[in-house]
Amino acid sequence: MWGADLLSIEGGEGCKTREKKGELEEEWARRKVDKRCVVIGVGGGALLDLVGFTAATFLRGVPLIYVPTTLVALVDGSIGGKNGVNAPWGKNQIGTIYFPDAVVADREAILPLSPAGRRDGLAEMWKMGLVWDERLLGVDESECLEAAAAKIEVLQHDPYEKGLRRILNFGHTVGHALEAVSGYGISHGEAVAIGAVTEAKLSVEKGLLASAEWEKIRQVYRRLPMGLPPSYRREAAIEAIGRDKKGAFRFVLLEKIGKAAPFGGAYCTEVRGEALERALDWMEGEFGALDH
Ligand SMILES: NC(=O)c1ccc[n+]([C@@H]2O[C@H](COP(=O)([O-])OP(=O)(O)OC[C@H]3O[C@@H](n4cnc5c(N)ncnc54)[C@H](O)[C@@H]3O)[C@@H](O)[C@H]2O)c1
Repeated sequence: MWGADLLSIEGGEGCKTREKKGELEEEWARRKVDKRCVVIGVGGGALLDLVGFTAATFLRGVPLIYVPTTLVALVDGSIGGKNGVNAPWGKNQIGTIYFPDAVVADREAILPLSPAGRRDGLAEMWKMGLVWDERLLGVDESECLEAAAAKIEVLQHDPYEKGLRRILNFGHTVGHALEAVSGYGISHGEAVAIGAVTEAKLSVEKGLLASAEWEKIRQVYRRLPMGLPPSYRREAAIEAIGRDKKGAFRFVLLEKIGKAAPFGGAYCTEVRGEALERALDWMEGEFGALDH
């Protein structure tokens, strides 16, 4: 017999905890969720991360569908199978890769966009323009399904991040460091947006990307409101970069707009020293603190 059972959860970053996952498991057990059920997660990226992780481990995996309701969740969070919760020692520290059986990506299901939600979503869409399909650089939210399709294309080549999928991490080495030094006071999208332009600059410093291409990237990203967190300090950021990548200073770099440098199939490389310092000099000059 078919039936549907509704459970409301408060979304946002605060729902991505081990405690909330435990509560959800107990609720599912009470409601007798089993492998004949389909769990349908409807919400933003944070809620989908929680529901996806719980679905992945409950009875060692129950059927799962995502219905993203924010731009970030539609173009990024619902695609690719990564899920997880935060831990006191860092973001997304506990999780799995577990692919949903379906994603209902409906532009009409997206909540009215706040300026921050729009920026965060566009930053992820434009990132796809930088590493994969140049046509996506600078587009607006009306092209969200195209951006989602671009991410799926990359995943079809490399679902488990053995090589090519790493290009999706462009902007994230600097971005994660900014999130960490701000105590997660800056949104992931804003951090990755700053990280993307800075890592594009690093690509110039390494002699991979032409200055004219980088200038174009910089002009496009200037349309987004971005600023370094007031707590930003260079030394702490460099330390966070090393910590994030377990001591390595690993970056995805660009060869041109729409193409990440392949580095023999690794799609990332070690960069430290002067080139990194020069890119950070530029970042600090460009993105002086914004009041968050
Ligand atoms: N797993 C992945 O691959 C992946 C990729 C990108 C981002 N993420 C994660 O996604 C999160 C950011 O996602 P986001 O930008 O969507 O922010 P979010 O999930 O925090 O949602 C933003 C706000 O919108 C509200 N909201 C969303 N949908 C709603 C609905 N249907 N009804 C009422 N309120 C609703 C949320 O409660 C929250 O306050 C981060 O935790 C990030 O780590 C994961």
